Amino acid sequence: MTFSKWLNRTTKQIRGISPFTGSFLPGRVPVFAGGRPSMPFPHFWNYHEPLKILETYFWGVDDEVGSKKHNRYLDVPGLDHVLVTRDPLVIRTVLSATGDKDGQFDRDTRPSAGIARATGTDSLLYANGPLWRRQKKLSAPPMSRSNLFQPETFHEFEKTFRNTAIERLEILRQRQEESGESATELEMESEVEIVMLEMLVNNFFGASVSYEDLRDRYAPAIAFLIDHMVSDTVGHSIRGLRNAVLGEPEAIAKAKADFEELTDIALSGRKEGRGLWGQFKSDAGDDKLRSNIRVFLAGALEATTSFTSWTLSHLAQRPDLQEVIYQEVQDVEVYDPENLKQAVMLNRCLQETLRLTPSLYFLPRWTSQEIELDLGEERSLRIPANTHVMLDVWHSNRCEDFWGEEETGYSATAFAPERWEVLEKKGRSPKEMLHFGFGHGPRVCPGKFLGQLEVGLAVGAFVKLFTFSNVQSLIEARAAVSTKPADHLFLRITRRK
Ligand code: HEM
Repeated sequence: MTFSKWLNRTTKQIRGISPFTGSFLPGRVPVFAGGRPSMPFPHFWNYHEPLKILETYFWGVDDEVGSKKHNRYLDVPGLDHVLVTRDPLVIRTVLSATGDKDGQFDRDTRPSAGIARATGTDSLLYANGPLWRRQKKLSAPPMSRSNLFQPETFHEFEKTFRNTAIERLEILRQRQEESGESATELEMESEVEIVMLEMLVNNFFGASVSYEDLRDRYAPAIAFLIDHMVSDTVGHSIRGLRNAVLGEPEAIAKAKADFEELTDIALSGRKEGRGLWGQFKSDAGDDKLRSNIRVFLAGALEATTSFTSWTLSHLAQRPDLQEVIYQEVQDVEVYDPENLKQAVMLNRCLQETLRLTPSLYFLPRWTSQEIELDLGEERSLRIPANTHVMLDVWHSNRCEDFWGEEETGYSATAFAPERWEVLEKKGRSPKEMLHFGFGHGPRVCPGKFLGQLEVGLAVGAFVKLFTFSNVQSLIEARAAVSTKPADHLFLRITRRK
């Protein structure tokens, strides 16, 4: 941006002139105000509470009417504009208009700067423009529905995934049996994480890393790096200075080395076409794939662990639903698409989990030029260049106006898979009622079908072996790269007879 443009923008910001035009305008959020959950931007003391930062945008808006209630903006003189929306119509329209063409939204890379420093910038997750398009063509096809659901490919994966899930859970069951206890209290999140990593590394990438190495080295290394990525996004400049003087802390260097080694292991199956490498057609050298492998390892592990942990956490509060799912899956040996489709309640629970507690709680976008959104029915919103657009999926999905009693028959903040039946009876399809759990539009999650299969299998296998309840009664969310239950999935589990 030239100095004169910057000065012009800053003057308008100081005078409080909205940078947005059109008929569907957002309301302004004051930079300073008392009584709010947090400041409306991340800083050193609040960056670990991102849900509170987003909540601040909708603080005290109950009396607002029209577009200002669900669309909010922050304008700090001298800085880029920030638009936060929890309006499903705006979210859907922005996601559909994301891509590599002029006048389309980019993914905003600022919130994932720490992730990119650990995984590389030339990945499908981080890249924009023509580089993103190339990455997409390269990496997405092997995971597409049409490829994954080819009977041969599907059965190969389904079987290895199922064996992994059942084997691990069986060990848990045996441990409990040997201890003679009828119920065990366990923080299950780390168990879930290792099963998910095993599925990725050994089944997806066709490697054969031992359970012990995954548990003791690689899973902790990734968890450590993910924690580091989040704080690094906010504190990079200060850290950079410290590291230049004192060198990189040993623990980070060690975690990075372990992660690199796991990336090598994942790549090693390529030559022999092991795992999903068999479906991968490209002349690109191994080095060109490293960033994507790192993203798949860390990102997919994070998202599938979050999704499975939340599903089990919600089900732990609903023994009635555990029984319904048990009836659906007790005789299912093979989780093929047909069998999975028949497990209606399991599918509704997965759907409802992503609605109420989406793994990725906001989807960041960026305007490199002015973009006009056509919202239908003669509503429009013109967003200026250099705007951070935060699609706040977490608060959209919990908003009574969109997902409440009137629309769905149940409170928006309740875990109620039954709402999907109400919606079905009203003739409202999941395509219409989007929860954006896998995103939407051109940058929709390429691992959607794979992830759903992994999570459905793990949850189905767990319900088949155990009944379970939460040890704590109130389960809050903790959020970093993704959201997870704050109690780390602390469950009381009992073997089924
Ligand atoms: C099952 C749990 C998963 C959930 C809930 C999930 C969620 C999401 C969401 C919401 C997005 C869109 C982000 C945006 O629009 O800004 C996304 C993108 C992405 N996901 Fe997933 N994901 C999951 C599993 C996976 C798996 C298993 C993989 C790979 C093996 C994967 C790889 C990716 C990649 C590479 C992108 C970026 C795509 C692009 O920008 O074109 N995800 N994911």
